[in-house]
Amino acid sequence: MDDRLRVGVVLGGRSSEREISLESGRNVYHNLDPSRFAPVAIYMDGAGALWEIGLTLLVQNTTRDIEARLAHDAKRLRYEDLAARVDFVYIGLHGKYGEDGCFQGLLELLDVPYSGSGVLGSALGMDKRVQRFILRQAGIDVPRTHAVARSAWDADRAAVLAAVAAAPGYPCVVKPAREGCSTALAVLDGPDGLAAAVDAALAWDNVALVEEKLSGTEVTVAVIEDGAGRPVAYPPTETPPLGAFLTIEEKFLPGQGVNVTPARLPGDVLAAVRATAERAFAALQLRVFARMDMYVTADGRIVVGEPNTLPGSSPSSTIFLGPIEEGIGPMDLVTRIVERSLAAHRQKKGPL
Ligand SMILES: Nc1ncnc2c1ncn2[C@@H]1O[C@H](COP(=O)(O)OP(=O)(O)O)[C@@H](O)[C@H]1O
Ligand SMILES: [Mg+2]
Repeated sequence: MDDRLRVGVVLGGRSSEREISLESGRNVYHNLDPSRFAPVAIYMDGAGALWEIGLTLLVQNTTRDIEARLAHDAKRLRYEDLAARVDFVYIGLHGKYGEDGCFQGLLELLDVPYSGSGVLGSALGMDKRVQRFILRQAGIDVPRTHAVARSAWDADRAAVLAAVAAAPGYPCVVKPAREGCSTALAVLDGPDGLAAAVDAALAWDNVALVEEKLSGTEVTVAVIEDGAGRPVAYPPTETPPLGAFLTIEEKFLPGQGVNVTPARLPGDVLAAVRATAERAFAALQLRVFARMDMYVTADGRIVVGEPNTLPGSSPSSTIFLGPIEEGIGPMDLVTRIVERSLAAHRQKKGPL
């Protein structure tokens, strides 16, 4: 009898990041230790429905190719039947409905333990406006930010443009409050193009952020709970953008981005970056693992740009680089994430 833990790896999903989710999910699928885990690939379609898929669909090039074959080559898996089919869900989704607490809430109702942060941590991790209130309260530096609600934008554009000129000023970065993969992100040197950039960001969310453009060293840090549930930051990876900001290609395509681990920073700065990443993880109620995107500015600020509660996990993703420095390979990391998530769900009182 096969007594391995049945791990459903959920990939695809409803968000703008579904192609990256396909890369992340199938890499996790192949890094589930076969001596301990029995993987089940589960595709979430654009409407949020789940389908059990075999290897033939898992290796398709794009989510569109998979979706075209679902009706014939996959088996619909009703939410109510998930707990009977798998013992654990490894969430390979990114972005809205997958990374923001929605899917986590569904799994809580179904009593299926899952990887990573719970409902609240996931929601905070996704919302760059709200998370900054909490980080600031915890004494952690975040980008100076002006949030533009759609209602304010529609009511008085001139007032918003004047407020942005006063703070954060220029250069600035414009983005939706809750997206990923650099979706609808613009870097501006002056007010030219600000209205178009806010319009573009508001096409994705009802809140757009206009924030100060940080210069210096961009780093990203894996934080993973140890056996006692304490967050531990791994060696930071330097991710110098080739252009004005890190593109989706630099983040995920092998050979496109430049990554240096450990980041080329003095030892005391590296230690401060790691300590800040751990404090931010705890302040935002994150669990099991996350990746913190941070900046070290020329004038010595250590700034948390954003957490990623379900970080990209394709073969060339930065989440693996810090742990590799300390001898933890991708399969070992995936095993730890499953084990620690199971432990967290065993100990929780109410939703994680
Ligand atoms: N305030 C900023 N200052 C400098 N660069 C930024 C800033 N905000 C975003 N960027 C650039 O854009 C990239 C994506 O922005 P980020 O806020 O991390 O959003 P996402 O959730 O899409 O990853 C960053 O990795 C960085 O290269
Ligand atoms: Mg980012």
